[in-house]
Amino acid sequence: MGQISPAHAVPLRDTHGNILALLGLTRDISERRAAEAERAHLQQQLQHAQKLEAIGQLTGGIAHDFNNILGAILGFTGLTLDRYGAQLPEKAVSYLNEVQKAGERARDLIQKMLAFARGSGGEAQLLDPRPLVREVIKMLASTLPSSLEMKEQIEQSVPAVRIDPVQLHQILTNLVINARDATGGQGRIEVGLRLTVLTGQVCDVCHQPVQGEFVELTVRDDGSGIAPEVLPKIFDPFFTTKDVGKGSGMGLAMVMGILREHDGHALVESRLGEGHGTTFRLFFHPANGHAPEALAPLATVAVAETGGRHILVVDDEVPLGQLLGEVLDANGYRATVHANPRTALAAFQADPGSFDAVITDQTMPGMTGVELAHELLALRPDLPVLMVSGYSDKVDAETAEKHGIRRFFYKPVESGALLAALREALL
Ligand SMILES: Nc1ncnc2c1ncn2[C@@H]1O[C@H](COP(=O)(O)OP(=O)(O)OP(=O)(O)O)[C@@H](O)[C@H]1O
Ligand SMILES: [Mg+2]
Repeated sequence: MGQISPAHAVPLRDTHGNILALLGLTRDISERRAAEAERAHLQQQLQHAQKLEAIGQLTGGIAHDFNNILGAILGFTGLTLDRYGAQLPEKAVSYLNEVQKAGERARDLIQKMLAFARGSGGEAQLLDPRPLVREVIKMLASTLPSSLEMKEQIEQSVPAVRIDPVQLHQILTNLVINARDATGGQGRIEVGLRLTVLTGQVCDVCHQPVQGEFVELTVRDDGSGIAPEVLPKIFDPFFTTKDVGKGSGMGLAMVMGILREHDGHALVESRLGEGHGTTFRLFFHPANGHAPEALAPLATVAVAETGGRHILVVDDEVPLGQLLGEVLDANGYRATVHANPRTALAAFQADPGSFDAVITDQTMPGMTGVELAHELLALRPDLPVLMVSGYSDKVDAETAEKHGIRRFFYKPVESGALLAALREALL
């Protein structure tokens, strides 16, 4: 029955004052109530979205700055171990290894924070998700206790998706680790991949009804389940039920950031109690076209082949530039490091032929990396320019390429990847 407003009734009397009838008026206000509830719900969603936006900005800003600091800490620690490890007392080496381990944990957390703040801005590519999912399962399975059974159900034919493989890796790893934690090391985790059709289910991330064909990644566990009062909070950044040091609460926030970036969706089902557990279903748009076969890893080129080439490094973060210079020197290059793009340009203008390649940051006072690249390429159009940029800088691989930049990386870049790109650019 519909909801009705309080009745207004008036007695109808005869000439003696006896009540003959009651004349009443009631109104069905179900629609109004439903509309009010809907409005309140939308208001709540809006507030939540605004809150997330603000936290996202804050988180992204902090993570970006920390990323640079961490790059220097990890880089110099690695350099010390590589160069002087053999001369250091054993204890000092083990301490430095601890610094590095802690630094790597911090880097993982920062990657999650960045991914939440703006997706991780990774390099999306046409990807066959099957081999990657298999590989991640294999890697994770080897770290799980044998009392935990891991099953995979990957359909024969699954369309390609457009995503950065690193992001897919991060998503799946977090979901499986969450499942592991929920089972307490005993039970079963199932990972599935298939093509599926949604027909108006309401997404738990964007709260909109969703329909159409999707590539579905499922992670199901038979663990503790999630309490109904906890369920609405699980995607919130920094929300965790785990002990201090065990979880940062950024895993699902990162998943949400990446899903948003790809216009993807999620459905979560969970029930508390023995044997029920939780199912995370993530949905990605199928991409048109076939994913290329995975590229063969770049062949390692011997140090001698770098032949003392001269590399101009430009980064206003002095320790990062210095670090890169050291890494290049250690790999047989000759590096000239400038913290100021204008002095770097002047040095180049003085003798354009003396440099073989340039590695530059993007955001620097006075001149951006893109602007610098323009000036340099005007003098030497064949010059390989590589860019290593922070996440919050408004440049990505595509825009960089448009400006003639050969390769683009986000900070912190693995020195191996950068060296490989440099060698390739110098061929
Ligand atoms: N499969 C699951 N079963 C039960 N609870 C879960 C599951 N997945 C997530 N949760 C709940 O959601 C919370 C948030 O998960 P999220 O991955 O965001 O953070 P975390 O795992 O606590 O920390 P982090 O991922 O940063 O290490 C968890 O603390 C847990 O309470
Ligand atoms: Mg987690």
